[in-house]
Amino acid sequence: MESNFSSKTVLVTGAAGFVGTHLCSRLSGEGAKVVGADNFSFARPDRASGDNLGYELATIDIRKPDETKALLERTTPDFVFHLAAVANPRTCKQDFPMAFDVNVLGTQNVLRFSPAASRFVFMSSAAVYGAAEYLPIDEQHPRRGSDPYSVTKIIGEDLATSYQRNYARDIVTVRNFNSYGVGQTGDYIVPQLIRQALTEKKIEIWDPRTVRDLMYIDNTIDALLAVATSGQKTVVNIGAGRGITVGELAEAIAGRFGGQIPVVDLKKAVIGSPALVSNNERLRSLSWSERVGFEDGIERTIDWTRRQLAAPA
Ligand SMILES: NC(=O)c1ccc[n+]([C@@H]2O[C@H](COP(=O)([O-])OP(=O)(O)OC[C@H]3O[C@@H](n4cnc5c(N)ncnc54)[C@H](O)[C@@H]3O)[C@@H](O)[C@H]2O)c1
Repeated sequence: MESNFSSKTVLVTGAAGFVGTHLCSRLSGEGAKVVGADNFSFARPDRASGDNLGYELATIDIRKPDETKALLERTTPDFVFHLAAVANPRTCKQDFPMAFDVNVLGTQNVLRFSPAASRFVFMSSAAVYGAAEYLPIDEQHPRRGSDPYSVTKIIGEDLATSYQRNYARDIVTVRNFNSYGVGQTGDYIVPQLIRQALTEKKIEIWDPRTVRDLMYIDNTIDALLAVATSGQKTVVNIGAGRGITVGELAEAIAGRFGGQIPVVDLKKAVIGSPALVSNNERLRSLSWSERVGFEDGIERTIDWTRRQLAAPA
């Protein structure tokens, strides 16, 4: 079947990151001419360069207007997926000025220099909702997030809306809940617990009652493509629509090690909202459904992490 992206030029910022890497491979596989852009500040460890990827991976810093302008003028993309960000809330809190420069001023640069005719997808986060007033969280839920990461995403969303309303630009904002899977590293909940199980033979959690909407990355990519090719011009939640407690997640991971891995409750207060679950009706109305289930996704991620740890440094 002919893909909506075949022969289209697609620019992806944050292309060397967790989501960007999956998105670029998928688009490339669908016949798009993919141009990735990244400054490699928080890139996947195995994406140190753009060699042998089958698509271009350009080194630019979106904080620099000249570099951003030059790339967008050279490529004139039909679609822009703007993913580049300081995406870790802890890093944003440690260095708010840097997070502001990348997530706000960088977003302004990418919006400003994207062609007027391109379809623009802005990657926001469920973090903008802050502590949930009700569950599941739909797109009308107030944006009450106040930590540095959430604030930069709220301003990014408002910039996108402003470009849409004042300059007739074709923009959609997506609010991603928690994506996990192959290629995700760092101090995010799923890779962290899996690494603990594999290397320390135990899993330590802060509060087993914390609820997250965990979705395997392939489903997130399906959702991004569905939203991009829809006529949606507002906001779309990207999530599985299913809450999983951290306790359930830890047990699901431990269960794959034949009961050999104890789960230890450290009884510490969590950072961020105690519960985030998406109402994904709008996403489902765009013919999206979850292809890879939670258990299968966890299995794939454990297999990948095991291979990563076994690989020579
Ligand atoms: N992973 C999730 O579950 C999740 C949830 C909600 C929102 N998001 C959003 O999705 C997007 C991608 O997230 P991710 O998990 O792939 O994060 P990531 O950190 O793996 O990827 C972000 C990429 O942006 C790049 N980048 C940072 N500063 C840059 C700059 N100045 N110029 C160019 N590139 C720069 C980094 O090097 C990195 O490769 C982010 O906008 C993030 O806020 C992700």
